[in-house]
Amino acid sequence: MKTVFSGIQPTGKVHLGNLLGAINNWVELSNEENKNYFCVVDLHSLTTHPDPETMEENIFETIKVLVASGINLKNSNIYIQSNVSEHVQLSWILSNFCQIGELQRMTQFKEKADQLGNHAGILTYPILMAADILIHKANQVPVGDDQTQHLELTRNIVERFNNTYGEIFPLPERKTGKVGARLMSLRHPENKMSKSNDDLNGTIYFDDSKDEIIKKFKSSVTDSDDVIKFDADSKKGISNLIDIYSSLNDLSHHEVENKFENLKYGEFKIEVGESVVSYLEPIREKYNSMSNGDIASLIKNNLEEVKDSAKKTMDEINSALGI
Ligand code: AMP
Ligand code: TRP
Repeated sequence: MKTVFSGIQPTGKVHLGNLLGAINNWVELSNEENKNYFCVVDLHSLTTHPDPETMEENIFETIKVLVASGINLKNSNIYIQSNVSEHVQLSWILSNFCQIGELQRMTQFKEKADQLGNHAGILTYPILMAADILIHKANQVPVGDDQTQHLELTRNIVERFNNTYGEIFPLPERKTGKVGARLMSLRHPENKMSKSNDDLNGTIYFDDSKDEIIKKFKSSVTDSDDVIKFDADSKKGISNLIDIYSSLNDLSHHEVENKFENLKYGEFKIEVGESVVSYLEPIREKYNSMSNGDIASLIKNNLEEVKDSAKKTMDEINSALGI
């Protein structure tokens, strides 16, 4: 049996990149015989100084989307990071097994440090992420492509810690789908799709209406040669659309190319848009059927087991450290 951990920040609306790159794999793993921890990482989101007025609503909204996506709640614990203080305690311990240079080399740090005001939180962000993964000794981490570097860092930390104090942690592995691991903005296909793209038309949010979705796909940026062929280097826009269709219909890129060989870009964009509409519709419906009260009791029911698991790991670590 595997132990699975993954996290999502409660910063803004869940988008198609989150769903296809990460959450769909969470759903898959939750339907296998695994122990699953899915965490809304509110402490990580403090790096962006979010508005306290909207924090709770964002956390609840994110958890509702996770449930609406079909995570099997029977063998999954969904919880909020700040409810389990061991995450931060372990983070401090792990920071002693991580080089400053490693943190400075993280792409996310290089991209975001200036934008977020160069505070230490954005530098040490990956150490807290390592603590998240290790607090329940997870060995499987389903994340999108953009988190690969952070996971590599976690593995380095594990090796150093275990070399010094014994085999306490497993070496966690990343789990990603063959397709959809890095969705790009529909408007700026050289950038990844994100919750806060400059151009909102580049991101499909989980609760976009049918009309909005089709409109966004119609206005997606492609090249001018009108040939539906996957080439992530020179045809980024159309490759992104092929990737989305592949992921939603369980087809390889090649199968999608063959299926739509004779279509014009304009027609293909609508096909992709319609696939997205049918995928998101049931998620939105289920989302709307849930109340904040449902989510509050879900969190309450999971918390004791999560805390016990975190405490058990901390006890073992403290004892290994002699503290
Ligand atoms: P975040 O919204 O940054 O908290 O990301 C939550 C999860 O979604 C992480 O596993 C990310 O790797 C994944 N993710 C975020 N953006 C994308 C994207 N554009 N394509 C694929 N996966 C993504
Ligand atoms: N850093 C991740 C992101 O921005 C979120 C995250 C925090 C995470 N802790 C984690 C993902 C632990 C996987 C495991 O997407």
